[in-house]
Amino acid sequence: MELSFLSPCLLGLESAVAFELKEMGARDVNAENGRVLFKGDERIMARANIASRFSERILILVGTFRARSFEELFEGAKALPWENFIGKNDAFPVKGYCLNSKLFAVSSCQSIIKKAVVERLKAKHKVPWFSETGALYQIRFSIMKDIVTLTIDTTGASLHKRGYRPISTPAPIKETLAAALCRFAKLRHYHTLYDPMCGSGTILIEGALLANNIPPGLNREFTSMSWKNFDSKIWQEEKERALDLVKKDTDFLAYGSDIDPEAIEIARQSVKRAGLERFINLKVADIKDFKPETEKGTLITNPPYGERLLDIEKAKEIYKVMGRVFEQKQGWSYNIITSDEDFPECFGRKPNKNRKLYNGMIQCRYYMYYK
Ligand SMILES: C[S@@+](CC[C@H](N)C(=O)[O-])C[C@H]1O[C@@H](n2cnc3c(N)ncnc32)[C@H](O)[C@@H]1O
Repeated sequence: MELSFLSPCLLGLESAVAFELKEMGARDVNAENGRVLFKGDERIMARANIASRFSERILILVGTFRARSFEELFEGAKALPWENFIGKNDAFPVKGYCLNSKLFAVSSCQSIIKKAVVERLKAKHKVPWFSETGALYQIRFSIMKDIVTLTIDTTGASLHKRGYRPISTPAPIKETLAAALCRFAKLRHYHTLYDPMCGSGTILIEGALLANNIPPGLNREFTSMSWKNFDSKIWQEEKERALDLVKKDTDFLAYGSDIDPEAIEIARQSVKRAGLERFINLKVADIKDFKPETEKGTLITNPPYGERLLDIEKAKEIYKVMGRVFEQKQGWSYNIITSDEDFPECFGRKPNKNRKLYNGMIQCRYYMYYK
């Protein structure tokens, strides 16, 4: 069945999401602010859930329309073909948000959409009420500038929840962002990755997954796995396909360090949970003693910004140290994400490239240096 999908992502990652979806075989891929629209069948849906590194979830786009009153919202939602997805016994809770719109009361919009879907399904399924004891079809809505977008979530827990990090350090980077940092730094399976302020090890783990083409969602569950209207065989086939695409016997290696022994212990546990011990080496070390183990390297790091950890002056001191210990050498690239606009000045060099990215709500720049 041909379906329309919408994949929300962190601001700045749209191009990475669009690229990976095209590689997976999605059609009509269109990147917008914070989301990517695409088309495909249920196989693409399963594939995107299992293999996407950069998107937050995969939603079926049921419909979109303009609404400036509760009546328009009700009629618009009722006109959509919910019965194509939601069966007589299925559960269909509604949640969402409103932004810059005439309709701004989220809970009222939520109840109206629910009522509209109930009315539609009553008529189509010819039943007077719904037990909602079956599979979960989470309806998600957004109302932005009076445009209502109605979707059904195929993912469940957000895709950044890979499952390897049940505990973490105080300021971990989101897995999807860490993966994108590795993609933007052009990390390859024959590279050596360094993160000398690795905290819980997210960049090292996402780097190892990306470089070896290991799908991040291979070992987790997705809501749509329990949907009766999609052939469950597809999930197994897509997992096998993804496994076949894993690169074998790569030269990839990663070295991570952090001044905090507790962080290194957490990183060690996460690396183990992710099954990546053979690729990742960890040790406790201060950045001032940074000494690479190899001739060439791709260094990607997320130092303290002076926002969540350390004060700004201490963070700036670290940037100066980084400028001293990250030698400008052939075969090396240094890729640093921080919210501090003074970073290049403290580091002592102008970046070859920089990109605007968001780490949660914090606007950052990704400074990339290479020779
Ligand atoms: C923003 S956190 C990194 C989070 C990491 N990307 C993650 O996903 O967990 C910054 C890290 O820098 C470490 N750090 C601070 N000062 C350091 C220093 N002088 N040498 C090495 N690591 C340091 C902190 O312990 C912290 O784990």
